[in-house]
Amino acid sequence: MTETMPATPETMIDMIKVSKRYPPNVTALTDVSLSVPKGELLFLTGMSGAGKTTLLKLIANMERPTSGLVEVSGRNIHKLKGKKLALQRRKIGMAYQDFKLLTEQTVAQNIAIAMEVAYRSPQNIRVAVRDLLGQLDLSDKHNSLTGDLSRGEQQRVALARAVANDPELLLIDEPTGNLDTTTTVRVMDLLRRHHLAGATLIIATHDQSIYQGSQHRTLEMTKGHLSILHEGARA
Ligand SMILES: Nc1ncnc2c1ncn2[C@@H]1O[C@H](COP(=O)(O)OP(=O)(O)OP(=O)(O)O)[C@@H](O)[C@H]1O
Ligand SMILES: [Mg+2]
Repeated sequence: MTETMPATPETMIDMIKVSKRYPPNVTALTDVSLSVPKGELLFLTGMSGAGKTTLLKLIANMERPTSGLVEVSGRNIHKLKGKKLALQRRKIGMAYQDFKLLTEQTVAQNIAIAMEVAYRSPQNIRVAVRDLLGQLDLSDKHNSLTGDLSRGEQQRVALARAVANDPELLLIDEPTGNLDTTTTVRVMDLLRRHHLAGATLIIATHDQSIYQGSQHRTLEMTKGHLSILHEGARA
């Protein structure tokens, strides 16, 4: 990809010649340029260690680029501070590959905490948590400690937390790696609903079953370089 157009109001993500090195000498991304219009659902695939998680973390502002520019909604997210940074973070939901759950807290608490920072009422949060757990077939785990759950269950709690505040941008890292076919369909249905409601999504995955044959743009990461695997049906 070599798109270098400046961000427009209709662009959600603009990465321009972004490189990322981890100390002492791992090059995770090399000169990656990527433009994602608002409302796109984009798949990102590639071998283990290719740089998928790094790319998502740079967009989420969990890592800083070594060089290059990352804009989200037209703002250089690595320059934001204070209130603007907090506001920006609330617009992004990320489901981490390693989940990053609070393992000594219950499933409901893990999801509720994400909602509390958005100043939602306790009643609203209770209803929303139950609804999300129902959608992800986790209703019976409401009061379980997340540390006691199977990996597939933890994965879904991480997903529920990412979507909890209906963020404009969802960065989803390996959502179905530990799931059976039926649960994979359930998870993808939930993500598709967010897409249909207008969210922009990037889904990093090894799972060919979720991007093969889809009409969505699919990019492939190869040793830190990005290429198009499937252009998709977007205009
Ligand atoms: N915090 C870190 N410190 C040092 N090296 C790192 C760090 N995070 C990732 N790397 C390295 O950067 C490269 C890209 O890793 P990344 O996790 O982005 O790949 P990935 O495509 O997500 O892989 P996987 O499919 O296994 O999840 C790898 O060589 C990895 O070992
Ligand atoms: Mg990864």
